[in-house]
Amino acid sequence: MSPVIKAIDVQYCTLQCPDLDIQEQFLIHFGMHTVEKSEDTLIMRGEGPQPFIEVCKKGERKFLGSAFVASSMEDLEKISQTDSFSEIEELTTPGGGYVSRGKDLDGINVEVVFGIKNREDFKEINPYPINEGTFSNRVNELKRYEKGNYPKILRFAHYGINVVDVAASLDWYNKHLGIIASDKLWVGEPNNPETPLNGIFARLDKGSTPADHHSIFMLNAHMVSEGNAGLNHVSFEMLSIDDVFSGHEILQKRKDEFDYELEWGVGRHYQGSQVFDYWRNPFKQIHEHQTDGDVLDSSIPHNDLDLTKGEGGGLPEDGPGASQWGPSINFGTFGDIRGL
Ligand SMILES: [Fe+2]
Repeated sequence: MSPVIKAIDVQYCTLQCPDLDIQEQFLIHFGMHTVEKSEDTLIMRGEGPQPFIEVCKKGERKFLGSAFVASSMEDLEKISQTDSFSEIEELTTPGGGYVSRGKDLDGINVEVVFGIKNREDFKEINPYPINEGTFSNRVNELKRYEKGNYPKILRFAHYGINVVDVAASLDWYNKHLGIIASDKLWVGEPNNPETPLNGIFARLDKGSTPADHHSIFMLNAHMVSEGNAGLNHVSFEMLSIDDVFSGHEILQKRKDEFDYELEWGVGRHYQGSQVFDYWRNPFKQIHEHQTDGDVLDSSIPHNDLDLTKGEGGGLPEDGPGASQWGPSINFGTFGDIRGL
């Protein structure tokens, strides 16, 4: 059955945090800029054209969902007519536009938006060309970063959720938003119906236009958060690899004073190939810096990977969750934020 719509991007995430001043400070150190702040709402942007990429509401820590972008108003109407989604409303956030609000199988909020205008003060920035291997792309130009400057974030790139039934969740996201699998992680033989599914990295179906290897990552809540569904992490694409490393240095320097926690990084992933660096804010919500990920068009079928045979990547002694380089994941704690 063809999906109701095929989403063309993800645009922002919404978290709930007990103290907006603390979250604002964290996000500034993380690389964002304040767009609007009131008693109960904080709106932050990156360097890209989107008017905002993270919204924080004041309250008990909680994940309030993410927004997918519809390709047209007609598509937004189509999704709003399904049982899982609401009537279209006008957005009151910067850039305006329209939204239909839904809930997935675990009750996690999913917004679909259309018509949000890019910010008027947007100025395109580009990374320095790279001289690598035998390619000299940067000639007569010196590479200089100002020491201590905050890292540059381009966009909200993907998010991870812990879900009760990974396969059923992929079906739901496929049926409503056209999401397709890139990699399925099995704990055993993929063809055996008894084999547990650890997680799925899934992407947008944009036909022949390449899409990020994953815009959504669904992890088995029974394996990471005692069966509780909720946020695993939110992830932001950086301007360049230097921004991942300079961001790491900045957060590392401030972690004791501001109560930040390095979750995992810096390293390069197997699934998606990004250079990654994960940090917990003082409320323990995981935010990722990443860059240089794989992009795939819809012709590429998904991989079924048996983690017990090391097919997720790495040497047998690395165990599951290895990096191509950099530390392995700490399975005891990663993504365990118990129903947030
Ligand atoms: Fe990620």
